[in-house]
Amino acid sequence: MVEGWDYEEFKRRFYQKMGLELDRYKDKQMERRIRQLMQREGKATFNELMQYILEDEKFKEKFMNYLTINTSEFFRDGKVFASLQGEILPRLLHSFQSLFIWSAGCSIGAESYSIAILLDQLRALHRARIVATDIDEKALSIARKGVYQEKLLDNTGPHLINKYFTKNKEGLAISEKLRKAVDFRSHNLFVDPVPGRCHLILCRNVFIYFKADTQAFLLEKFSSNLEQGGFLVIGSAEYISNPGRYRLKKLYPTIYEKL
Ligand SMILES: C[S@@+](CC[C@H](N)C(=O)[O-])C[C@H]1O[C@@H](n2cnc3c(N)ncnc32)[C@H](O)[C@@H]1O
Repeated sequence: MVEGWDYEEFKRRFYQKMGLELDRYKDKQMERRIRQLMQREGKATFNELMQYILEDEKFKEKFMNYLTINTSEFFRDGKVFASLQGEILPRLLHSFQSLFIWSAGCSIGAESYSIAILLDQLRALHRARIVATDIDEKALSIARKGVYQEKLLDNTGPHLINKYFTKNKEGLAISEKLRKAVDFRSHNLFVDPVPGRCHLILCRNVFIYFKADTQAFLLEKFSSNLEQGGFLVIGSAEYISNPGRYRLKKLYPTIYEKL
């Protein structure tokens, strides 16, 4: 009989087979989520769960999708987008001829398209390159398709919905112009290189799930790839306790400028 693995052993095996370091995520939260899924799927041990992941491609996808909590919506945290539209993007457009914007942990693309909408409103979409990345392939395929349920647009003004979306049988489809403006890529924040020198990085509601040392590692990675005068935007439940350490200055609770 196989000895039952504990969570530590599961994390090790998962990394060997799947290449994702679960150890970088906060343990309590992650273990609880995984155990909940095991219960739902009728898997009594971590060994059984691992076997199921390896044998069933569909379940593997479901598991990865479940692990990486991908809730998102358009213009999530209205205040942040108001600052981006009213101050941050105009400042960047004034200082730089063209912008490289990275939406890191973009999930289904709502955040990335929200930025594209703001840039279009500022008549500057042609001056920006938007790269949006996530580890979750399923979320990325939704993002690339760009069709959303109406409830994800609750924070989006009706004039913007009319201008940028068309209703079809599946939901609201984003305009071709915006769909083409965002380059969605598969990317693991722990190991993959930053996609370019950035003027604006949005990494919101992503590192809240990571352990402190991984958060610090990522903040350093973000900062060293941000142009001076560029900005990092984090989620409203996230906090950088010592921004100076990363050559960042807090401008608003979720917006930091690179010094
Ligand atoms: C809650 S969503 C945030 C979506 C969006 N940024 C927002 O605030 O609306 C968190 C995203 O982080 C992604 N994520 C988690 N771990 C990751 C990793 N190691 N590398 C890249 N993305 C990761 C998840 O797949 C998920 O789509």
